[in-house]
Amino acid sequence: MKTLLQINTGIFGEHSNSTVLANAFAEQFAAQQDAQVVVRDLVSSPLPHLDANIIGAFASEESARTPEQQAIIDRSQALIDELEQADAVVLGLPMYNFSVPSQLKAYMDQVARAGITFKYTETGPQGLLTNKPVYVIAARGGMHAGLESDSQTAFIKTFFGFIGLHNVEFIYAEGLNMGDDAKAEAFAQAKQVMEKVAA
Ligand SMILES: Cc1cc2nc3c(=O)[nH]c(=O)nc-3n(C[C@H](O)[C@H](O)[C@H](O)COP(=O)(O)O)c2cc1C
Repeated sequence: MKTLLQINTGIFGEHSNSTVLANAFAEQFAAQQDAQVVVRDLVSSPLPHLDANIIGAFASEESARTPEQQAIIDRSQALIDELEQADAVVLGLPMYNFSVPSQLKAYMDQVARAGITFKYTETGPQGLLTNKPVYVIAARGGMHAGLESDSQTAFIKTFFGFIGLHNVEFIYAEGLNMGDDAKAEAFAQAKQVMEKVAA
């Protein structure tokens, strides 16, 4: 059986548009691909911001680690294992203040690990995770796709590509704060795209 890892980052829990749409995607994907869904909710189970202690633990020699450093390594490794064991990923991605939710950035800082999820070679960086599709459900109040204000698309694609996940597909739900009609239209369009993508 396949595993779909659903990463939720909407701060309004089950009321977040990104989570509502990611749930719909996961339901379709699970039914059509006979997959189980593993949910990683970065809002209800937040990770700490990156700091010198975390980087110190990541850089430490295994034999010289303190128990605190080992706990930091174990938390990071569990997240990496979860990502590696998935056959596909769906990421619910709201836009908050022209960026990704800070909870997601904290997650990225946990799974970007030199020698484990990426390494540098003579020809440049190489991602070390097994490639798999990453479906990103991008929920925005305004319209940004294809514009300079879309700070998310290139960033997310670059990041996942850096750790070896090169097939990143964005599904946009935009204009969600531009009135009820615009929101209904955006949901309908996103669901139409999701139906094709999840098949
Ligand atoms: C704190 C905050 C900041 C926001 N910043 C932006 C923004 O920069 N650009 C935008 O288009 N929409 C912005 N919005 C609107 C959200 O993108 C929109 O409500 C979307 O549905 C958020 O996803 P969510 O419902 O999954 O939380 C913001 C909303 C909040 C609550």
